[in-house]
This record gives sequence, C-alpha cells and structure tokens, in this order.
Amino acid sequence: MGLNPLKIGDVTAKVPIIQGGMGIGVSGYKLASAVAKEGAVGIISAAQIGYREDDFKTNPKEANIRALKSEIRKAKKDSPKGIIGINIMVAMNNYEELVKAALEENIDIIISGAGLPMKLPKMIKGHNVKIAPIVSSRKAALIILKHWKKRYDRLPDFIVVEGPKAGGHLGFKMDEVATHSLEYIVKDVLEEIKNYDKEIPVIAAGGIYTSDDIKKFINIGASGVQMATRFIATKECDADINFKKAFLNSKEEDIILVKSPVGLPGRAIKNNFIETIQKNKVTPKICYNCLRKCDPKTTPYCISDALIEAVKGNIDKGLIFTGSNGYKIDKIVTVKELIKELTI
Ligand SMILES: Cc1cc2nc3c(=O)[nH]c(=O)nc-3n(C[C@H](O)[C@H](O)[C@H](O)COP(=O)(O)O)c2cc1C
Repeated sequence: MGLNPLKIGDVTAKVPIIQGGMGIGVSGYKLASAVAKEGAVGIISAAQIGYREDDFKTNPKEANIRALKSEIRKAKKDSPKGIIGINIMVAMNNYEELVKAALEENIDIIISGAGLPMKLPKMIKGHNVKIAPIVSSRKAALIILKHWKKRYDRLPDFIVVEGPKAGGHLGFKMDEVATHSLEYIVKDVLEEIKNYDKEIPVIAAGGIYTSDDIKKFINIGASGVQMATRFIATKECDADINFKKAFLNSKEEDIILVKSPVGLPGRAIKNNFIETIQKNKVTPKICYNCLRKCDPKTTPYCISDALIEAVKGNIDKGLIFTGSNGYKIDKIVTVKELIKELTI
C-alpha cells in the first residue's frame, strides 16, 4: 500500500480515508463498520437516524437518540478494533442531545459541518473523543481555530476541508460552486494551521474518486481524504438497492444543484421529485422540527421526507444526494474491494 496511515493524536487509521457521513440513513452501522474493519474510518450520519423507529413520526427526538445509540453499538460490535465516528450537522435542532448520546456510547470521533460547531469542545469536556469541524474556506477554519483556542483552550483534532464538488449540502453559495477549488482551499487551510502549535491533520473532501485523486491531495499536504459518494455503490451501504441503482443509471448531466431548506445549495441526481419542487412548493404534512432554520410554513419541501423516501428506495419521490462524480459509478462492489482499489 502506497499511502501512509492517518494519525489523529493517539488514534491511527491504517488507511487514510474517512468515509463521509451520509444522511439520512445512507451511512449507518453496516457501512461504517465495514469501512472501519478495512482500517479506514467509518462514519455514521446522525441526521434523522431514527427514521425506521415506530415512534419516529410522533416522537422524532427520542427515536433519533435511541437509534443513534443502537447504530453506534452495532458498529462497534461488528468492528471492535475499528475507528467509528459520527457526523452531526450543526444545523440540526437536537445537535447537543445527539452529541451527548454519542458520547454515552463512547464514540471515537465527532465530525460536524453544515454550520460551525462553535460550542463542541464544551459539550465533549471530560470525554476522550476526537473532534473535527468541516470547513469550506480558510476563513471558517480561522474562526473555529481562534474561537476554540480562546474560549476552551482546545484545537480541532483534525479539520475536514470540503470543496465544491462534494455531495449533500455545500458550504458555498450557488454562484461560488464553479469558481472555487478544493486544492486551493486545502493549501490555504494548511497555511492557516501553521500558526498553531499542534499537529492538526487536514482531510480533503469533495469529488475525490480514484487512488490518484487521493495521492494528489496527500502530495499537496493533506493527511487523508474524506470520501462519500463512492461508498454508496457498495454492498454494505445502508441505503436501499434502488438508491444505489440511481447512481448506476445516472449521467453527468443529471447531476445538478438544488436549494435545500437547510439554507445551503445541495447536489443531487435529477429526478421526478426535483422537477416537482422546481415547479411547486410541497408543504409538509408533519414537521419533525429537525432544522434550526426551517419553517414548515414557508419551506419549499420537507428535506427529511425527501431524503427518507430516497434512502428507502422510493427514488422518484425522494432527494438523492450525490457528489459531482456520482455519474461515474458503474458497479456495486464490496467495501473491501473498494478500499483495495483506492489504496493501490
Ligand atoms: C448521499 C449523501 C449524504 C450526505 N450527507 C451528509 C450529512 O448528513 N452530513 C454531512 O456533513 N455531509 C454529508 N454529505 C457529504 C459527505 O459526507 C462528504 O463530505 C462529501 O460528499 C465528499 O464528497 P464526495 O461525495 O464527492 O466523496 C453527504 C454526501 C452524500 C453523497
């Protein structure tokens, strides 16, 4: 294997790949533990993870906490020596409760994006957990570094730098997506962390697809990469087979940007659902109260319902998030096969 391990303080991943958290339900315990077993880092997405619980519609808060704890336990049981983390979006209403639940299950890593996790160090005080923000600019990295250092005397254990080719929600305005480059932002963030007296690994994310892509980012100074889209087309990915097949059937021109109720652009595969929401507002029947910024009266659609339909395989009714390279996927492989291909 030509890649160096990823060292995050006293934790070492043999393979310097973090499997990106994918909500809703796309990266659950099956994918995360399969990835962790191969020596990379497996990440469970906490976003509305309780969607399969019986009481999800009536009591989403508790359903999510229960399911998150259960998914972490199962992932750790399946991969006792592996590294398991969770992705919790700052934009979620129950952010703090999800952090607490993950800590109770001794999660190894917490990664947080879709906003800056300003108070995360306070929430994890006294726990042996690695914490990382997802940033899309040097400015965002600087804000977190300065704030965490000053307020909590703590620095991130690593930083995920997510560029404009990523899947799901993007940390860019619509018109910035075409003009920004991950390479440039990674180099910029690497410059910024030189100002701090701690080794902070920088992880590049967004549009990384091949082993050559990984090497390219390692060569410019990243310690590893975060990849999500490629892990969708694995046997172990927790999404329904129809969700995976949507990738096999997609073409480059099907991959588009849509507005999300999170308040950020999102990248998705064009389908009936997107055509519908581009024409009409779809007022949600119930509200899960999941996002801080979403108002059910004015939202163009319910992002939870849309992502849940997709992961369950009702793909014409759902929102299928993808990275910009999703159309390149042409077969479903095992995680073992994928990691092998990525590390040659
Ligand atoms: C289906 C899907 C769902 C995602 N969900 C989340 C999420 O819940 N939280 C988050 O921070 N990032 C999310 N992402 C972003 C990924 O974690 C990852 O950083 C990004 O997609 C990397 O780019 P790549 O997919 O081109 O490898 C999602 C991406 C995809 C494709």
